[in-house]
Amino acid sequence: MIISKQTLYMAFAMSCFINLNASAHKGEDHSKLKKAPDSSVTSEKLLEEINESYTSKIKPIFKSKCLDCHGSNNHMPWYHSLPGVKQMMNHDIEEAKEHMDMTKGFPFAGHGTPKEDLEALKETVKLSSMPPWQYKLMHWDSGLTSEEKKIVNQWINESLNKLSNGGNK
Ligand code: HEC
Repeated sequence: MIISKQTLYMAFAMSCFINLNASAHKGEDHSKLKKAPDSSVTSEKLLEEINESYTSKIKPIFKSKCLDCHGSNNHMPWYHSLPGVKQMMNHDIEEAKEHMDMTKGFPFAGHGTPKEDLEALKETVKLSSMPPWQYKLMHWDSGLTSEEKKIVNQWINESLNKLSNGGNK
């Protein structure tokens, strides 16, 4: 079946409209998502270690697939300039960073503790829920491949183990 670009633009523009109207994160109240103070047992060193493995193994994957929204990738996809799409993406970027800002590496900024962020990541990898489907619709190869998922999952589990062993439950 051949899907014309026009059809895609339409679908995308419509989904933007829906997305803008529905709260992107199912009515969660940001004020309830206060960042819990990090446990004092979490050693800086542990987090640094996790960040090192993030930088070498995970960042190269996230750079092209996640950081458009969760970081400061200045490169925007071609369709960002389409009417409606720009607003929608800017809205998503704002939203994405509020939840999890990966600009400065691990630990990510946002409302979650390092452990919560890893758990949330694990969930999105498991459900293939990121990037959002509207984005995948326009950007065929934007989802994580199964090889990439394996690498990311391994890093998540390793990092969660490190945090647990470090006494930060
Ligand atoms: C088109 C923009 C966009 C891209 C690209 C994108 N995200 Fe997101 N992400 C969002 C938005 C918007 C939210 C907040 C709303 C929601 O949860 O759907 C979010 C939320 C999340 C959350 C939940 C954070 C929390 O606080 O629970 C995780 C984890 C996440 N993204 C991971 C990823 C990963 C990993 C990738 C790359 C594979 C990615 N995202 C790519 C827009 C994006």
